[in-house]
Amino acid sequence: MKIKHIVIICLTLFGCKQKKTAILADDNDVYIPLPKVIHPKDNPSSPEKIRLGKLLFYDPILSGNKDVSCATCHHPKFAYAENIDLSMGSNAVGLGMHRTFLKNNTIPFVKRNAHTVINAAYNGINTKGKFNPNNAPMFWDNRVKSLEEQALKPIQALEEMRGNILEESVILDTVVNRLQQNREYQKLFASAFPKQPNINKTNLAKAIACFERTLVTPNSRFDRYLQGDENAISQSEKDGFALFKKAKCHLCHSGPMFSDYKIHTLGMRDNKKLKISDDGFKKTYGFRTPTLRNLRHTGPYMHNGELKTLLEVLEFYEDISTGISQNPLVANEQMDSLAVQINLKVKDMSSIISFFNTLNSDNFDKEIPSKVPSGLPVGGNIQ
Ligand code: HEC
Ligand code: HEC
Repeated sequence: MKIKHIVIICLTLFGCKQKKTAILADDNDVYIPLPKVIHPKDNPSSPEKIRLGKLLFYDPILSGNKDVSCATCHHPKFAYAENIDLSMGSNAVGLGMHRTFLKNNTIPFVKRNAHTVINAAYNGINTKGKFNPNNAPMFWDNRVKSLEEQALKPIQALEEMRGNILEESVILDTVVNRLQQNREYQKLFASAFPKQPNINKTNLAKAIACFERTLVTPNSRFDRYLQGDENAISQSEKDGFALFKKAKCHLCHSGPMFSDYKIHTLGMRDNKKLKISDDGFKKTYGFRTPTLRNLRHTGPYMHNGELKTLLEVLEFYEDISTGISQNPLVANEQMDSLAVQINLKVKDMSSIISFFNTLNSDNFDKEIPSKVPSGLPVGGNIQ
């Protein structure tokens, strides 16, 4: 049924092309290589803007207590994610799993696992490779709609960058004011925004987003395979890809990012570090399908980092395919109808995990600035 469907779509798309196109398209199903990044019309890229955005990304001047930067939780050492289940922002010290709160702490954990920023430029991409950077879903519950809009949120959040000294209503003005006072930022903003050389929150967000759009990995071995290089992935990895589809993982992990960017309720258990249960998108316990690119670097897994290894993730899927929720606050009837279609055999798990290797890439910007314009520690209190 499904195969027929795809063949029909292919025949309509490619019209007169012969059977071979249809078979190839069927073989690769809903997968095409990552396309080129698209920039919003009102935020075109330039080397000056990327340079400014990168310095801002590493500069704790953006946080209330000048102790946290974006790189604190999105560090290149961990592929711009974090190797810890829940993030600690304000009033903490250290990097990744070595990060701890300082004494007498009243700041809570961030309630979710930090995404990687790598490839977030493609968020919302569909199976045909189409996406709109002005309407790109962000966060585990898709609550924000572009990298530009996203960039100001962590600065305003108490537990991420704001801390408890400054009110939410004044934090952005305070941060912008600090940047305006800084000679080096005056020059950097002027060259990044020659037409409207204002230091304001709009340009701050634009510069960070512009830098983030350089963090992409469109050259994984899997992309090369889809582009026609048969030897880019091994036979056992090809088998793993087939088993991935046979297990019905592609019902949600579809398209060039291996995500449909939709919300699904899988009944994942809560993280015990949290005092209040995280009920996800509109209290449905639904979370967005995450990308499967660069998994090597982005564990622990799921919205709350509860699963430490990919094998644990696959065992979780084997459990929920029976339709039984793992979270006592999620009824079996609430479970996503696609999740119960999963058909996963224990013997296929290691093949599927080896297929994930083809989606890893080490080809991203790992260079950390040697200093930031504020003169504060690069990346915040991460030493
Ligand atoms: C204290 C840790 C922390 C800091 C600091 C932080 N983030 Fe995050 N980031 C997270 C967490 C946790 C999430 C997931 C939150 C959620 O989904 O509710 C996230 C999600 C994101 C996403 C969404 C990716 C996606 O695929 O949806 C982007 C983009 C991002 N952060 C960029 C930034 C930028 C830019 C900064 C600095 C202005 C920053 N972050 C500061 C922890 C942090
Ligand atoms: C019904 C849609 C759906 C299906 C089918 C599905 N997934 Fe997922 N996947 C999700 C969602 C949603 C999450 C995040 C859930 C959460 O955090 O609570 C997720 C998370 C993951 C993660 C963790 C990624 C990360 O960065 O945290 C992996 C790995 C994964 N899925 C692999 C698979 C495999 C393998 C299969 C097939 C056996 C599969 N998925 C089937 C929707 C789906």
